[in-house]
Amino acid sequence: MERNLMGHDSDIEKVLLTEDQIASAVTDIAARIDRDFRNSERDLLLLGILKGSVVFMGDLMKKLKTPVEIDFMKVSSYGSSTESSGKVNILLDLHRSDLSDKNIIIVEDIIDSGRTLSYLVKYLSVAGAGSVRTCTLLDKPSRRTVEFTPDYSGYSIPDEFVVGYGLDYNEHYRALPYIGVLKKDVWNK
Ligand code: IMP
Ligand code: MG
Repeated sequence: MERNLMGHDSDIEKVLLTEDQIASAVTDIAARIDRDFRNSERDLLLLGILKGSVVFMGDLMKKLKTPVEIDFMKVSSYGSSTESSGKVNILLDLHRSDLSDKNIIIVEDIIDSGRTLSYLVKYLSVAGAGSVRTCTLLDKPSRRTVEFTPDYSGYSIPDEFVVGYGLDYNEHYRALPYIGVLKKDVWNK
C-alpha cells in the first residue's frame, strides 16, 4: 500500500512563524481580550470557525483568564483550494437562543479577502448577539476585496499561501506546529 506523504514538513519551503512566535502572539491576544472583557456583565463566547481555527482556539482559550464558553460554525467559500471566492456558505450553523446574553469573539485562522468575517459579523449581529468582535492569528491585508479590520490580530503576513497550526492545503498540513510556506512542486502534485 502506498503511503500518502503529504503533510510532511519536507514539503515546506520556509518557516514563516515558529512555535515560539505563535505562542507569544497567542499570549498577547489573550491579555488584550482579558483586559477588554474583565469587567463585562455578559458571558464571553469564543466562536471558532471550523476547521482552520481549532489549533489557535485551543491555545487561546487556555491562555485566557476570563471564563469562556466555546462554540463553532463551519463556513465555506467556493473556489480553488488556494483562492477563496466571494460567496460565503454556512455549513454548520449556531443553534442557540441565548446569543443576546453573550459577547462573541469570532476566532479565525487567517483573513484573506475579508468576506468570511465581514459576513459573519453581520450575520451574528442580525441574530441578536450582545456584542461581536473578531480575532485572527494571521492577516493578509494586501488581499482584501472588502474593507475589514479585525479587533485582535496576531501577525500580518505577505501574500503567500501558508499552512500549519490548523491551516491546510487540500486538508493536509493542519497538524504542523508552525506556520510555513509550501514548496512550489507540492502545488503540481
Ligand atoms: P476570506 O473570506 O477570503 O478572508 O477567507 C479566509 C479563509 O480563507 C480562511 O479561513 C482560510 O480557510 C482560507 N485561507 C486564506 N488564505 C489562506 C492560506 O494562506 N492558507 C490556508 N488557508 C487560507
Ligand atoms: Mg478557514
